[in-house]
Amino acid sequence: MRERHRYLFIRILEACNADCFMCDFALSRDTFRFSLEDFEDLLPKAHDAGVRYVRFTGGEPLMHPDVVELVRSGTAAGMKMSLITNGSMLPRMAESLAAAGLAQVIVSLDGASAATHDVYRRSPGMFDSGLSGLRTAAALGVLPRVNTVVGPHNYAQMPLLQQVLTQAGVRQWELSALKLDRSITYPDPDDVRRVCDGLYDADPDRVLVPMGRRFYGDEPEEQARYFAESVTPRASQPLCHVTDDVIYIDGKYGRMYACSCIPHREGDDGPGGAPVREGGVITLDTPAFRKHADFYRDQGPLVCNGCSTTAAGYSDDVARLGSVTPWHY
Ligand SMILES: C[S@@+](CC[C@H](N)C(=O)[O-])C[C@H]1O[C@@H](n2cnc3c(N)ncnc32)[C@H](O)[C@@H]1O
Ligand code: SF4
Ligand code: SF4
Repeated sequence: MRERHRYLFIRILEACNADCFMCDFALSRDTFRFSLEDFEDLLPKAHDAGVRYVRFTGGEPLMHPDVVELVRSGTAAGMKMSLITNGSMLPRMAESLAAAGLAQVIVSLDGASAATHDVYRRSPGMFDSGLSGLRTAAALGVLPRVNTVVGPHNYAQMPLLQQVLTQAGVRQWELSALKLDRSITYPDPDDVRRVCDGLYDADPDRVLVPMGRRFYGDEPEEQARYFAESVTPRASQPLCHVTDDVIYIDGKYGRMYACSCIPHREGDDGPGGAPVREGGVITLDTPAFRKHADFYRDQGPLVCNGCSTTAAGYSDDVARLGSVTPWHY
């Protein structure tokens, strides 16, 4: 029997109502929607495969017309349900999502105020709706988390954002390095350390401390690589333990991956991942998936050009402790 429960991430649509400067899905009008029927087909198979955490991503998941029903089905099948959202529709949907059993909500917030966040996301009102949606959801018993994409444009905002999120009662915070298809340069790496080291060194009993590894690396060599080549910290050698515990399904392309960081990369693995359907039937843990996952388990710490901060932290926690706090991916 498995000791740890697995995570299933599903990209349930590509459409989005925001215009974030760094994202390929900005203002997408794509028509793909992951169907309730496919989800209900998948759920017992996921349960048998050891999955107990399901997270929807997109595009903007709250634009999916069946998102509440999808959450309800997952909850009824014994899954802890989560989704990541830009927060614009959260204030008006929090109550129905909570009633459907949503266990965790993640809102993406990149600035400490509307004057910054709404500019990065080119979406007026998004900061206020995100924060008020988080508060409403938390009051209804949904675990409130924030994910922040951080880069040269906003790292100086992070100490203030830490205060804002702490005061708002946010319980988990992931800081992830901005990725673009070009390298990212900071005018003064020492200033990044000066501003951001304190976020991680703060007393977790008093303030919300980001999960996982520092986005610019914990060790001097990692930091040198991040600032010179934009390579984010990755799972420690010899093995990546994320690949045993994660299934990421890109609904639109019908492919699955052993880590949420891989689908956004090109070229490592042919078309990447493995097909979700075999002979028209949804099947998890196929030989093609295991081959893909085993490759990254053995080679990821050498070949991946950087993990998310939580993925790297997750793999290292499994290696060190054999266990990981719930939701720490
Ligand atoms: C693609 S969005 C989908 C969910 C939802 N629309 C949202 O923004 O939270 C998932 C996460 O990817 C992040 N993201 C988008 N573009 C990124 C980039 N270029 N580098 C790093 N993270 C990025 C977003 O900020 C968000 O936290
Ligand atoms: S809200 Fe999310 S999916 Fe939409 S453009 Fe922004 S990061 Fe991309
Ligand atoms: S990106 Fe990191 S967490 Fe993901 S497979 Fe590669 S080494 Fe593992």
